[in-house]
Amino acid sequence: MPKTAYVNGRYVPHGEASVHVEDRGFQFADSVYEVIGVINGDFADMRGHLDRLERSLSELRIDMPVRRAVIPFIVRELLRRNRLRNANVYIQITRGAAPRDFAFPKKPVVPTFVMTARPFSFDAKRIEDKGVRVVTLPDRRWARRDIKTTNLLPPVLAKQEALDAGADDAWLVDREGFVTEATASNAWILTKDGVLVTRAPTHDILKGVTRSAILPLLEAEGLYLEERAFTPLEAVEAAEAFSTSATALVTPVVAIDGRTIGDGKAGPLTVKLYKAYRDYVRKGLDGQIGWSA
Ligand SMILES: Cc1ncc(COP(=O)(O)O)c(C=O)c1O
Repeated sequence: MPKTAYVNGRYVPHGEASVHVEDRGFQFADSVYEVIGVINGDFADMRGHLDRLERSLSELRIDMPVRRAVIPFIVRELLRRNRLRNANVYIQITRGAAPRDFAFPKKPVVPTFVMTARPFSFDAKRIEDKGVRVVTLPDRRWARRDIKTTNLLPPVLAKQEALDAGADDAWLVDREGFVTEATASNAWILTKDGVLVTRAPTHDILKGVTRSAILPLLEAEGLYLEERAFTPLEAVEAAEAFSTSATALVTPVVAIDGRTIGDGKAGPLTVKLYKAYRDYVRKGLDGQIGWSA
């Protein structure tokens, strides 16, 4: 259990951390978030996550509560107080607390700024044993999935539906019958012709920071990438499938809708990309902000 949380400028015992009952994050999910992995003390893609945090805030016209440069200091202090070197850090910023009204508050309000850090073992399983089984389900989310908001009810319900069906996660399918992404990660396939395919970063998906980090690694492998939509059938017939996110890193997908992908094990390219991403974080190739935790 985390010991300490950060709420609006104060480090407080996790069990006592709270926000106002009129907070617009609580009332309307009028709020954004980021999740940053800390692996053996190294921040994974801090810069990319802070870039996306700024973008999400600006799309919703919420002010950044502190100067951007201060955030890594707060993260580091939170990790120190929780004695964590392997963790997921959650940053949540809401429009703030104001009398309930759909319209933005007329008087300026101070955004609510919360940070928590949870222990997470990135090495609990070997990559070869990390394969997950997914089912495809309708994508019932809103039309601006590029903004990382805390409006997460559709993926919450999809995840539970996937678990109830005996799978580990869901790949979501749009009205035209194409996969958008997983409940909390980006979806990729490697076709039998050796082409890597993932959806283009439009408003239809969240542009994953891990996804962006992987693109140069692909080039190093001489791989050909197609950023386009693909169907569940194409995925089932793929040589490999995997998903990417700050917590999943690169996770092999070994079955879709009960049909085995490849030989049902993590594919060689998936394993290679996973290792390349771990190396990239360890060596600080993400142009890290100065230090390790
Ligand atoms: C819907 C969705 N897509 C993709 C991702 C992957 O993004 P990232 O690689 O930045 O963690 C996430 C992460 O939480 C997500 O929620």
